Amino acid sequence: MNLFQTKPLERLLLESEGGGHGATLKRTLSATALVALGIGAVIGAGIFTLTGVAAANHAGPALVYSFILAGVGCAFAAFCYSEFATMIPIAGSAYTYAYATLGELVAWVIGWALVLEYAVGAATVAVSWSATIASILKDFGIIIPGSVTASPFDMNPGKVNLIAVVVVVAISSILIVGIRESAHFNSFIVFVKVSVVILFIVLGYFYIHRANYHPFLPPNTGKFGAFGWSGVLAAAGQVFFAYIGFDAVSTAAQEAKNPKRDMPIGIIGSLAVCTVLYILYSLVLTGVVNYKALAVPDPLPVAVDRMRDYPWVGELMKVGSLLGLTSVILVMLLGQSRVFYSMSRDGLLPIVFSRIHGKFQTPYLSNILLMIFVSLGAALTPIEQLGKLTSMGTLFAFVVVCIGIMIMRKTRPELSRPFRTPWVPVVPVLGIVVNLGLMAGLDRLTWEAFLIWMGTGLIVYFAYSRFHSHLRSGQIVEQT
Ligand code: ALA
Repeated sequence: MNLFQTKPLERLLLESEGGGHGATLKRTLSATALVALGIGAVIGAGIFTLTGVAAANHAGPALVYSFILAGVGCAFAAFCYSEFATMIPIAGSAYTYAYATLGELVAWVIGWALVLEYAVGAATVAVSWSATIASILKDFGIIIPGSVTASPFDMNPGKVNLIAVVVVVAISSILIVGIRESAHFNSFIVFVKVSVVILFIVLGYFYIHRANYHPFLPPNTGKFGAFGWSGVLAAAGQVFFAYIGFDAVSTAAQEAKNPKRDMPIGIIGSLAVCTVLYILYSLVLTGVVNYKALAVPDPLPVAVDRMRDYPWVGELMKVGSLLGLTSVILVMLLGQSRVFYSMSRDGLLPIVFSRIHGKFQTPYLSNILLMIFVSLGAALTPIEQLGKLTSMGTLFAFVVVCIGIMIMRKTRPELSRPFRTPWVPVVPVLGIVVNLGLMAGLDRLTWEAFLIWMGTGLIVYFAYSRFHSHLRSGQIVEQT
């Protein structure tokens, strides 16, 4: 038995064309829709909630350096993702790429880790959504009890985060109806949230107090991660979450109209737009409000309160961020169901995960199962834990994608690469180093949860998946 048997690329491509069996996903997404899909996944809980605490506890105004550092780590990975996405333009993300390069076991491990990125990521943002809607309704005099907006394990414990469950169920229902409707809905929300972020940057610029930038890099307090350059590093690990999502574009490769040209545009384009917005946003935020006052879960409204000439802006920001969070949940759930779809078509997961609905042509059973899993996570877990676990799974996938690019250049140099990662091996090696560094910065509890999750994945692989693998049985595609 060879655990490192790779899936031949020709076979992957054949399967992407349907392999002659049954229904395939519809190709409806343009380059613009792909960039929107990426931005839809990226701008969310990270920028709207985590930035304040990162500045207050770790970096001060130097938070902008943290955003640059995390953005650079993502950029290395984005180049590698783009090369893969054009070489293997089918659904599945890092999972598929690993299957072609590092073998079935590693592919399984990555697919399992991606659940942390997409499903746990969706749960994280759903918890943030719950807090945001409660805050908006409060402004209108409607109080949602804390017992249904927090988990039992939060610092201010609730009973069960029912509001987070409601949003997960609602968005799952939209996804079941279909990708075309989902992409239109997503593009609209992306437009609104990008406008809100730009509005904040432009209006906020006039309320910057230069005194807030002194000291720009507050001196280290003597503890690793508490200001100074180690603080910048720690904050980079924290705000990394804000960048997660651009790689979700690659999971939609099979629904792209022209994947060879449009995948790099979608992946690198969405990351570039978000990086620029984040750099400006963090500069304005820490210029308007002193970093010491930013240890809050809702830094945006706190900053907007200082913009006294524009009292209407605050509410608009909150509604915009709520919509922004909504689209993040949508893309995360979409990405996850697509990864499951690929794993199921390979026989590594049961066939329910790839069963396509006759009318909607979506993997509806997969969406329903995910809805249950994500709802449970969002209902019962504090946002910090969910967020860090999401980052861990994502960083791990980034590292493997960077390794995969180097292996593929050696083993299959002849393959057509419409997009080539520049300066190989320098770029992928730097991607590995930076992303491993960010992983090392995550805390012990997160490492433990990660290792338990991955251990469970290995048990499932050796108990089920390896016996059902289509690659082993020689089957091309099994689909109903
Ligand atoms: N990057 C996404 C967010 O900030 C996950 O919500």
